[in-house]
Amino acid sequence: MADTVLLPTVPIRHERRPAADMVRAAEAFADRMAGRRSVRDFAPDPIPEGVVEAAVRAASTAPSGANVQPWRFVVLTDPARKRRLREAAEAEERDFYQRRAPQEWLGAIAQLGTDWEKPFLETAPAVIVVFEVHQGPHSPKPYYVKESVGIAVGLLISALHHAGLVTLTHTPSPMRFLNEVCERPPEERPNLVLPVGYPAPDARVPDLARKPLDEVMIRQ
Ligand SMILES: Cc1cc2nc3c(=O)[nH]c(=O)nc-3n(C[C@H](O)[C@H](O)[C@H](O)COP(=O)(O)O)c2cc1C
Repeated sequence: MADTVLLPTVPIRHERRPAADMVRAAEAFADRMAGRRSVRDFAPDPIPEGVVEAAVRAASTAPSGANVQPWRFVVLTDPARKRRLREAAEAEERDFYQRRAPQEWLGAIAQLGTDWEKPFLETAPAVIVVFEVHQGPHSPKPYYVKESVGIAVGLLISALHHAGLVTLTHTPSPMRFLNEVCERPPEERPNLVLPVGYPAPDARVPDLARKPLDEVMIRQ
């Protein structure tokens, strides 16, 4: 067995802040995140240069199993590419909704008013297709891929919301067609699709309630 070579270390960069500042910061962040909603009707307005790049940079700071960073973010802005994405997605979705979807699942999403049509894949100025990077000719074996990519996507959604954009977490089923649309190799497996932009002027969202804190948090 080869000798293990430890990575060199650096001092942790951390600043202790006054307790009151910490509470204020935590509350302000929670309030800001409470305003995030999934949007399904987008305006076509372009996103300022650099915002998506910075959000992907934030996402890439996520912790990952063994620091393998098993993610790829494909940012589609080319109208022809987005149209191909929409057409391929709608072909799969139509089949899924009309033939393959379990009745129980159709019941669960009926209240959200979603169907097989996905115009947002074309209207949103950018669509980020997130891939999990599995073992391949140029990529090592990753650990805890779904957990790692899930955390990265959480940071990505938060960063985009923080910058003033809206997103939809979209999971076409099945998703393999995304490799072809995005020209990615088989060891990259689609995780989800994130249209990004501004809400259409008349966009509305379901009137959802969040579970109260005492239901989701247990103190022991
Ligand atoms: C993993 C995951 C997959 C989702 N897939 C879809 C989807 O395919 N289509 C869709 O319209 N919404 C999808 N959603 C969005 C949820 O319906 C939405 O997050 C939920 O209703 C709460 O609404 P909010 O995001 O506005 O808080 C998905 C959300 C998650 C976390």
